[in-house]
Amino acid sequence: MSSLNEIPWDELRERAVRATSNSYSPYSHVKVGAAGYTTDGRVVEGANVENASYGLTLCAECSLVSDLARQGGGRLAAVSIVAGDTKPIAPCGRCRQLLFEHGGNGLLIDAGPDTAPRHLHELLPEAFGPDDLGLRASQ
Ligand code: THU
Repeated sequence: MSSLNEIPWDELRERAVRATSNSYSPYSHVKVGAAGYTTDGRVVEGANVENASYGLTLCAECSLVSDLARQGGGRLAAVSIVAGDTKPIAPCGRCRQLLFEHGGNGLLIDAGPDTAPRHLHELLPEAFGPDDLGLRASQ
């Protein structure tokens, strides 16, 4: 688990804001950008990619997780997600689960314009995750 002051928040927020310019959001017109900092010091980025079949929209966090995989994987230590107004926004429920897979309870998240970064554990308590599969499989 990383502590708040080990994270280059200014850089992350700047990279997230820059990523909003790659947003493909012709339907909602809500541009979202995300930037993540890995435990080995890399930055990964993403932007939302909408689809005419609305339900298939990829959130900025989906795109960020794809960038993490594209870079060879690793663990996320912190994530900043911003909207087109440059202010942090809270990740949607599905993306909390996506981020849990790659950062776990200790992942730090810029969770809104008026709150300090919080651990994912607070945003997604008692999460279901990879460990549960081993524990609950029948054989
Ligand atoms: N969106 C994200 O990219 N991340 C979130 O966590 C919340 C929502 C996007 C999806 C859609 O393109 C737009 O915001 C409006 O919902």
